[in-house]
Formats: sequence, C-alpha cells, structure tokens
Amino acid sequence: MTLHTFREGSPGDGLPIVLIHGFPLDHRMWLVAAAAVPGTRAVHAVDLPGTPGHLADLPEPAIEASAAYVATALAQAGIGRAVVAGMSMGGYVALALAEAHPELVAALALVDTKSTADPGEARANRLRIADEAEATDSVAPVRPMATTLVGESTRAGHPAVSDQVAAWIEDQSPAGIAWSQRAMAARPDRTHVLRAFAGPVTVVVGDEDALTPIDAAEHMVAAAADALLVVVPRAGHLAAAEQPAVVAAALGDLAQRADAAS
Ligand code: MLT
Repeated sequence: MTLHTFREGSPGDGLPIVLIHGFPLDHRMWLVAAAAVPGTRAVHAVDLPGTPGHLADLPEPAIEASAAYVATALAQAGIGRAVVAGMSMGGYVALALAEAHPELVAALALVDTKSTADPGEARANRLRIADEAEATDSVAPVRPMATTLVGESTRAGHPAVSDQVAAWIEDQSPAGIAWSQRAMAARPDRTHVLRAFAGPVTVVVGDEDALTPIDAAEHMVAAAADALLVVVPRAGHLAAAEQPAVVAAALGDLAQRADAAS
C-alpha cells in the first residue's frame, strides 16, 4: 500500500494533492495531468485494491474498503490532510473517504463522477461483468471501455489516447475487475456527504462525458456548500487524460482555495 509520488513538494508549498483513479485503470491515468498541476506542491496518486500488485488478501468488495486503503496509504506517507481528487470510481472512493475520515480531506475534486448510487439495471450489469471476467479469466468484458471512456473528439483527433487506455486495461486482472465491479455495485448514494462537506469542492466534467454526464455534475455542485463546476471542452469521461492541462489547472485552483481556507 504505497502512494505513487509524481511530485515531492516541500514544506510550505501548500496542501498535497492525492489523486484516485477510475475503473478499469490505475494511477497511470493521472501521469500527464499530475505533471501539469501548477506550482510546486506535492502530488501523489494511489492504486486501489484490485489493481496489479494489489490483489492479495482482498477484503469483501466495497468502496468503503478502498477508502480505508487510501486512509492507510496516507497514514503511511505521513499525510494528515490533503486535497483529494477522484475520477469516476475514484470519486466514489473520495466521497467514502470524506465520510469515514473527514479530517483527512481538506478539499474534494470530483472528476467525471457522480454521488448517486446505481439504478438496479446498472448494478445487475456490473455483477454480470464481474462474473464474466472471472468465467473467461480475461479483461474482455471491459475491453470496449477503451473506446467508451474517451469522448468523440479524442477518438477522432487523438487516437493515441484511446490506444493508451486500451493498453492500461490489458494490464488489469480479471480478479481485480470483478472485485471493483462488485464494490461499485454495492455502493450507496453519498450525496449527503457532499451536503455535509465544509471544504471547497470542484466538480469537473468533460462536455462529451456520456457515462457521468453534466447533469450528474450539476447535482453534486448543487449539493455542496462551496462548489465550482468546470466543464472541460472536447473531453469525455476520461477528461483527466484527454485534456490534462485543463484538469490540472482546475486541481491547482482548488488546492489554492483549500490552502486559503486552512
Ligand atoms: C470509471 O471510470 O471509474 C467507471 O466508469 C466507473 C463506473 O463504472 O461507474
């Protein structure tokens, strides 16, 4: 359970940023955005349970277990408070972390994600994909996500991004895919966590995000006391990798708001 450190930072540089990846990906989805975060503050990323190297002794599938994992990684790194940014599944984990450990979360970036639970049909689909990944012992059931995670503009103009996503997906394991899908299927609505959250929030959404579209983002903005909405042009669900400079700027602004509030 380690944090990947993209940038070390020094005392006095401001609160560190901790990035939590989406599904079926790992910390590498943040590589380019992390390097583009303005300033000198520390930038770290976690790999959640179910990613390569994090498959041993998996607990029962639960987003709360992933949040506990992040809390432990932060404790091991000596980080007592951070700006926490989660993309999609990472956003579900960020909200669970804010619920279980509010003291750790100075600010929240919710990137192409939602605070609500899945409707029944989506839950059933997740459980079907989990079973299929195990039965076929392959990542085949999530391969099509290399296309659906990115927006139309990226598919047409920057096919290398889709190719990179496809390669990241191939690196995942059937057991990890099954674990994460079951964890996401079981998660509750956490809009109440946003309502109770006192720190600054930035909600980021690609304008071509078909998986967690703008109305899901607006729902979160409306729930939080101090939230800004950043709509990323020409980006889909993986705005953080499609338009990393825009997402990095939003993270930098949020971290400055968090520094000012702390
Ligand atoms: C993700 O990008 O993390 C997934 O789309 C999350 C999900 O399936 O809800």
